[in-house]
Amino acid sequence: MKHKILFISSEAFPLIKTGGLADVAGSLPIALQDNDQDVCLLLPAYQSILEQIIETKVVAETSHYGLKINILETTLPGSSIKTWLIDCPQMFDRPGNPYMAEDGNPWRDNAERFALFSQAAVDIALNRCGLSWQPDVVHCNDWQSALIPALLKTFPHSPATIFTIHNLAYQGLFSSQTFFDLGLPDGLWGMYGVEFYGQFSFIKGGLVYSDRINTVSPTYAKEIQQVELGYGLDPLLSHRHLQLSGIINGIDTDVWNPQKDKYLRQNYNAKTLHKKTANKSALQKYLKLPEEANIPVIGMISRLVEQKGLQSILDAMPKLMNMPIQIIILGTGERNLEQDLLNWAKQFPDKLSINIGYNEALAHQIEAAADIYLMPSIFEPCGLNQLYSLRYGTLPLARNVGGLADTVIDCNDNTLKDNTANGFIVTEDSAEALVTTMIRAIETYQNQQTWQQLQLNAMTPDRSWQSSALQYIELYEKAIEDNRARF
Ligand code: ADP
Ligand code: GLC
Repeated sequence: MKHKILFISSEAFPLIKTGGLADVAGSLPIALQDNDQDVCLLLPAYQSILEQIIETKVVAETSHYGLKINILETTLPGSSIKTWLIDCPQMFDRPGNPYMAEDGNPWRDNAERFALFSQAAVDIALNRCGLSWQPDVVHCNDWQSALIPALLKTFPHSPATIFTIHNLAYQGLFSSQTFFDLGLPDGLWGMYGVEFYGQFSFIKGGLVYSDRINTVSPTYAKEIQQVELGYGLDPLLSHRHLQLSGIINGIDTDVWNPQKDKYLRQNYNAKTLHKKTANKSALQKYLKLPEEANIPVIGMISRLVEQKGLQSILDAMPKLMNMPIQIIILGTGERNLEQDLLNWAKQFPDKLSINIGYNEALAHQIEAAADIYLMPSIFEPCGLNQLYSLRYGTLPLARNVGGLADTVIDCNDNTLKDNTANGFIVTEDSAEALVTTMIRAIETYQNQQTWQQLQLNAMTPDRSWQSSALQYIELYEKAIEDNRARF
């Protein structure tokens, strides 16, 4: 059945991206539309978005916290998804990252910024700013839009709500005073509301009040109900387990397609795998690494934060730098991690290339050039890079957590026999485990016939959004039913 979906996110590729949420918000709405859903996307009008879009018009106005807000309309580039931008220059028209100032600290007014964004979203969701479009479902993502289900539930007749957890580690925690300063409805305060041990938690708005909660892999949906990865929210999530599910992310198979990827020196597919090596030598040359065809190249593209297992990589460095491999890392994040990596690269310029910064083209080139993709995350709600790697015939070496556990199948006798093996699993967060798995991977690499079979196993399955989009549509239907029961 056709539903009207308001899809709300704080980032969406290609307009604005800091991580995987942008990839999802830039591709899932298209897959939903392809499956006959009427989807509109809602984003803040950050300065960098305003600079990129050529055509916008003001289609509605509202105001909150004494500030005038324009709702601008455009389309998500490369698609026909109607996109509304919440334009409030005092909040969003500033340079740089959506969440952080230049110094790497969160913007001081993040609570005000995303509360205003949420209030404007509520106006749209209730169809009260003249857009003549009433969504059946409001789909919120991560803490920046988590307050919306809470606010909507204070109205007797409001649309159904879904909240997707992309990363429970980011919760939008502020002082209790912030809650009261924002003039939010008193009824939302308290331990059964958005209070979290005396603080104001944006994410609890989504976890407590949305009709359905989901996260981006079945394994992470289980993990967040346990104490280790629940951040104190596990009792709440367990309590709501009947409304909680996991749907694995798909990928944009146009943007991430080795056969058509415009950033590559040489396009290739599963039938022309031998051409992949041209990308390897081109990148070795570009990054000034020795151009050796037979040495395994290990790639990694990542936010440089604890979550991604950087500490175990750094601890393993003395051993890794003794192995016949080259490692190429692209990333940006915590300054000390960046510096530690750069220090290692200074010592081993022939083996390690560290590239600090955000670089879309280089990200694609690494996916195509590398033989092995390194992703030893401590936790990983879904992870997109292992999915891109699989499609590019670049075998993931990954931890058995979250979406990695759901998508990377360890190479062993059984999985080789049934042609499911597609990577190498590291079973614990330690340098020793990482090194042991790396040795296993490079030994397997020596057998080119086995390696090619693994590459084919990796490249063959459909990683598009299609089956997950259908699961989202089912979830929307359940949310509509649950919400109706309220009336
Ligand atoms: P997360 O959302 O936790 O950062 P994901 O694996 O889901 O992890 O998604 C990360 C996305 O961000 C991928 O598309 C990846 O290629 C991209 N990315 C991360 N860092 C960089 C970078 N420095 N340059 C280019 N792309 C990057
Ligand atoms: C988060 C997670 C990542 C996931 C992405 C998109 O940033 O860290 O694992 O793939 O969201 O859902």
